[in-house]
Amino acid sequence: MSASLSNDQMLSMLDWLQAMGVDAFVDDVPCDWLERGQTPPGEGYAWPNRPVASSPANRPAGASSVARPAAAPARPRAATPIGASDAEAGARKIARQADSLEALEAALKQFDGCGLKSTATNLCFYRGAPKADVMFIGEAPGRDEDLEGKPFVGRAGKLLDKMLAAIGLDETHVHITNIVYWRPPGNRTPTPQEALACRPFLERQIELVAPKMIVAVGGAAAKEVLGVSEGIMRLRGKWREVSVGNATLPAIATLHPAYLLRTPAAKRLAWLDLLQIRSRL
Ligand code: URA
Repeated sequence: MSASLSNDQMLSMLDWLQAMGVDAFVDDVPCDWLERGQTPPGEGYAWPNRPVASSPANRPAGASSVARPAAAPARPRAATPIGASDAEAGARKIARQADSLEALEAALKQFDGCGLKSTATNLCFYRGAPKADVMFIGEAPGRDEDLEGKPFVGRAGKLLDKMLAAIGLDETHVHITNIVYWRPPGNRTPTPQEALACRPFLERQIELVAPKMIVAVGGAAAKEVLGVSEGIMRLRGKWREVSVGNATLPAIATLHPAYLLRTPAAKRLAWLDLLQIRSRL
């Protein structure tokens, strides 16, 4: 941050960033994505050697006079293919070859086709049983999940565990994952491209877990898993069918526990969904 800012100014900038939802820094120096042009995050990117203080002579017209620190060496990052369909095709090839969850996890660790990997701390593959009758699929890892490297371990995850317990289930009976395997910065909803890049892995994961049913947790997961565009309030609580590989599985959507934490009155609806899952088991 510039030496020309006072401590008070820097503190109010941090307050502002926090108020805008920033809860983690992903790099030591700010990155001007426009300056990078078409170059995606990755090891191939050559950071420009910026002067510590730009003089009016070497500054483009209209550019800010705020001095930038010399660019720090780039942290090794994952490369991201520009086209989402390229990423998906690459993912499908790799995922198909995995004949166990361990192999699939290893393949995900090698996979650089989802841009979320470059800002995440850990891969969040799954939590629960490797083989399970019910597979819960949520939206995306959050901060706690990113730090621990497992899905649904934060506040929402604790509520999910209570919901499972209410119908006599625990981690040993279910397999829990997300539609993307890395935390989106600031907990934003994953983009369709990010979900698409992860989808071949998710499909292979479903084949390997071989559940008897799928539960999509929350609106984003419901849209992705069920392949529909309606909102969660319309989708929830109704059984549908999804095809994965050669199998067709019953799938149901329910409300996201993070939503239930904000809207406790909706727990009544989630309970109805849980009863449907229990009776199907
Ligand atoms: N919310 C999700 O959808 N998934 C997680 O893993 C955590 C929170």
